[in-house]
Amino acid sequence: MSDTTSNQMWGGRFAAGPDAIMEAINASIGFDRRLAAQDIAGSRAHAAMLAATGILSDKDVDAIREGLLTVLSEIEGGTFAYSTALEDIHMNVEARLKELIGEPAGRLHTGRSRNDQVATDFKLWVRDQLDAAAEGLQALMRALVAQAESGADWVMPGFTHLQTAQPVTWGHHMMAYVEMLGRDLTRVRDARARMNECPLGAAALAGTSFPIDRDMTAQALGFDRPSANSLDAVSDRDFALEFLSVASISAMHLSRLAEELVIWSSAQFRFVTLSDRFSTGSSIMPQKKNPDAAELIRAKVGRIFGANAALMMVMKGLPLAYSKDMQEDKEQVFDAADNWMLALAAMEGMVRDMSANRDALAAAAGAGFSTATDLADWLVRVLGLPFREAHHVTGSLVAMAESRGCDLPDLSLSDMQGVCAGITEDIFSVLGVENSVNSRMSYGGTAPAQVQAQAERWRSVLG
Ligand code: ARG
Repeated sequence: MSDTTSNQMWGGRFAAGPDAIMEAINASIGFDRRLAAQDIAGSRAHAAMLAATGILSDKDVDAIREGLLTVLSEIEGGTFAYSTALEDIHMNVEARLKELIGEPAGRLHTGRSRNDQVATDFKLWVRDQLDAAAEGLQALMRALVAQAESGADWVMPGFTHLQTAQPVTWGHHMMAYVEMLGRDLTRVRDARARMNECPLGAAALAGTSFPIDRDMTAQALGFDRPSANSLDAVSDRDFALEFLSVASISAMHLSRLAEELVIWSSAQFRFVTLSDRFSTGSSIMPQKKNPDAAELIRAKVGRIFGANAALMMVMKGLPLAYSKDMQEDKEQVFDAADNWMLALAAMEGMVRDMSANRDALAAAAGAGFSTATDLADWLVRVLGLPFREAHHVTGSLVAMAESRGCDLPDLSLSDMQGVCAGITEDIFSVLGVENSVNSRMSYGGTAPAQVQAQAERWRSVLG
């Protein structure tokens, strides 16, 4: 066992140590050191259970507990010496424990394997990230609700095909994102609830002959229950994939808002002014104020989608149970998590700080014949025209206004009566954008009263 060239964890069967290239491809310590705190928490729970079940003596477990706390403080203090030869965080921690406490360290691995250990550590890490994402989502939602409340009745153009469609309110547009992020939040919570089964004690793949207490370790680590099939427990990475797919959908939402902010902050739109704190300048063009944070969010989401696709590729076709392929799960999830959290925080800062330009929004709201639908609806409501006919009449009036270079309210009553004899002066009352948005009182519609009701509902949900 004192062979120094072969591995101290499995050297008994090996005559020689690994080739340097083998070590390089095999090692995960370069990235899985991020699981250190979870690894030590898992080991402490496992050790306490080994003592409670009488599998190990209290004396050994006391030494293990003390030793693990020392290892944790070395890691947190930045004095821990990581070794690539020791491959991963699990073996790095155990080897250091052995240096510190000697023989009892070798008993810690009783009734477990690195396969259930890594699944447990990684789940704990992903679970923490889901909690952080929930916080980040809610902070951004609060910022959006605040924007909605301050401009619940500010008119702006609503678009389809990025062509002016109908007037909407600024508050309504902000609240649309609150709905999206609200669904993200429910996906985060669903994923968390589904993943919360503890793999520890599944051991290598088949369970163990030691009389372990899996309920005890599951509970100590905050899981709802132990996972029910040991083969599944060590080969499951659904929790990581769900994290990535929830992150992908959420990131997609962030990229849509990012794109709108890029467009809206341009000189052509001037719908919003981003704060200096969340903008950058140009080294050559003094007038520039660039929406870099929004652009980077728009771009970074690609990494998150990529991570999702990459881990799906890693997992597809893998036979049960653990395969080393699965070590490739971590970097993807780490990178996606870092970028999702950063994107959420940056978006929250941008939204909190930005100011909507009420006048520019209002000026744009009436452009592009945005109240044409209101005109058609009036023809249906007051004159009893079938909607298709009303659509046709309105189209002719839009064409007339366009050929004269004016807006719909600028046409005279006699112009209008020339197209449809029944039109009366009353029609002008529906051609204003304020009237248009106020009239859209259907549940979930853009009327300020509807927007305010939704903002209040979310306020009470978000606290
Ligand atoms: N570093 C490994 C991983 O991240 C830990 C599990 C190794 N298990 C094994 N049987 N080689 O997946």
